[in-house]
Amino acid sequence: MADRLLPLHIGIIMDGNGRWAELRGLPRAEGHKRGVERVKEMVDASLNFGIDVLSLYAFSLENWLRPYEEVSVIMHLLKRTIKEEFSSFVKEGIQFRVIGNRTRLNPEILQAIEALEAATKDNKRLTLQCALSYGGRDEIIRAVKRAINNNISADSITEEVFGSFLDTNGIPDPDLIIRTSGEMRLSNFLIWQSAYSEFYFTDTLWPDFTKEELLQAIQNYRTRDRRFGKVKRCMVAQ
Ligand code: IPE
Ligand code: IPE
Ligand code: MG
Repeated sequence: MADRLLPLHIGIIMDGNGRWAELRGLPRAEGHKRGVERVKEMVDASLNFGIDVLSLYAFSLENWLRPYEEVSVIMHLLKRTIKEEFSSFVKEGIQFRVIGNRTRLNPEILQAIEALEAATKDNKRLTLQCALSYGGRDEIIRAVKRAINNNISADSITEEVFGSFLDTNGIPDPDLIIRTSGEMRLSNFLIWQSAYSEFYFTDTLWPDFTKEELLQAIQNYRTRDRRFGKVKRCMVAQ
């Protein structure tokens, strides 16, 4: 879609699954299950709206500190979703990629991820970037290590060169970052890449976040004046 006001890359911090379940007297796992339904809805909506990249924060490095049972539920849901959606991602032209620290993922999940990444690597319609076992600071440290291991000299480091060592290599920065559940923080999500992102915070809990509200966030984004440190064109003319 040739609409310059459309955010081409949207990042979503999908928060509030636990509270959604607790409010209903349900186990937290129910909130995560319902959250997966919203993920599917967002992918469909992104295809319809002509978004190029959708980045979803699914599980942070810090989330490994949650009780074992909850981590297991989330990992199980993830593996199941990858298997269920495999053929539709291939068919719909969705490129799937995971950003994050893969060393902590169990081999079975890693295998499922790598199979889907390989099967969809040439797809161009929508890139679905899943932040899993992800922490922005960890990503930066791993990038520094990669640069050093590649014998990159200090003089040749630029923002562009450094960016090429990040997990998000080749992906433009997010234009819009949405966080649900009323929290107003990044919680270690895309901290390098969000330098000039616009933010949209909503009290809606993730299991209640619909495509209508995604559209509302996009409409809100379209009213923003992104200056990137410059002055408005009309002010230059004065
Ligand atoms: C977001 O919902 C999902 C993950 C972090 C995996 P939460 O599980 O953080 O839900 P709340 O914040 O406890 O309500
Ligand atoms: C951020 O949510 C991580 C994800 C949504 C996957 P958290 O619920 O873990 O964040 P904090 O602990 O409230 O900052
Ligand atoms: Mg939370």
